[in-house]
Amino acid sequence: MTPRVGVVVPAAGRGERLGGGVPKALRQLAGRPMLVHTVAALTAAELVSQIVVAAPPTLVEVVGRLLGPDVKVLPGGAERVDSVRGALRVLDDDIRVVLVHDAARPLTPPSLVDAVASAVLAGAPAVIPVLPLADTVKEIDADGMVVRTPPRDGLRAVQTPQGFRREVIEAAYARHEDDGVPVTDDAGLAERLGVPVTTVPGADEAFKVTRPADLVFAEAMLARRLAESSRGPAS
Ligand code: CTP
Ligand code: MG
Repeated sequence: MTPRVGVVVPAAGRGERLGGGVPKALRQLAGRPMLVHTVAALTAAELVSQIVVAAPPTLVEVVGRLLGPDVKVLPGGAERVDSVRGALRVLDDDIRVVLVHDAARPLTPPSLVDAVASAVLAGAPAVIPVLPLADTVKEIDADGMVVRTPPRDGLRAVQTPQGFRREVIEAAYARHEDDGVPVTDDAGLAERLGVPVTTVPGADEAFKVTRPADLVFAEAMLARRLAESSRGPAS
């Protein structure tokens, strides 16, 4: 039997860079809260069997009603790592593969979710979707002076979902609980254990809604999707 795949969705952030006065996961996008789009994409993936959402603590009931009985909702924590850690604890016992996916990536294609899950099911302990960088990246010092320019060919931008064997993500979070060394993504915690991390091609649509302009871009992409689906397949 295929091992079961669970997805942990950190959705408890305040969305300070986006602004707007409501938590980012509940910002409207084409008439529905962002989180509803994100969960719909996860539900549409073939390999996903459980979804757990870490919601803003005061909105757990609201989010629960929004997502329906098939999605487990619990209060998130102060930092993203706290939200993920809490959600990992309530996954069903028989979940063997865990994906961690930002609520703030509402347009992620279900095919990318399945690609990450199947790479883990095929044996990789940790898998991340990556894209080449459009911009050159500079390392700068505290005064804003350029220190060096790393060659762009060897750099990638990292998206979610990131996928792990369950024992790998649990060990990574246990280690983080002990030493608290900061990292900016889940795979970073696994790297610290010496676990090899595999990459798969990311998707432009899996971008993270971070600033106001991203919301405009997301609305435009959704409008295009809608137009394409109402036109139907080309004959
Ligand atoms: N997140 C979370 N719990 C937190 C902080 C963040 O679950 N305490 C989630 C966010 O809801 C988001 C994902 O982690 O889906 C990625 O974080 P980010 O894009 O930084 O979202 P916010 O923290 O909400 O935004 P900002 O940093 O601008 O406040
Ligand atoms: Mg944040």
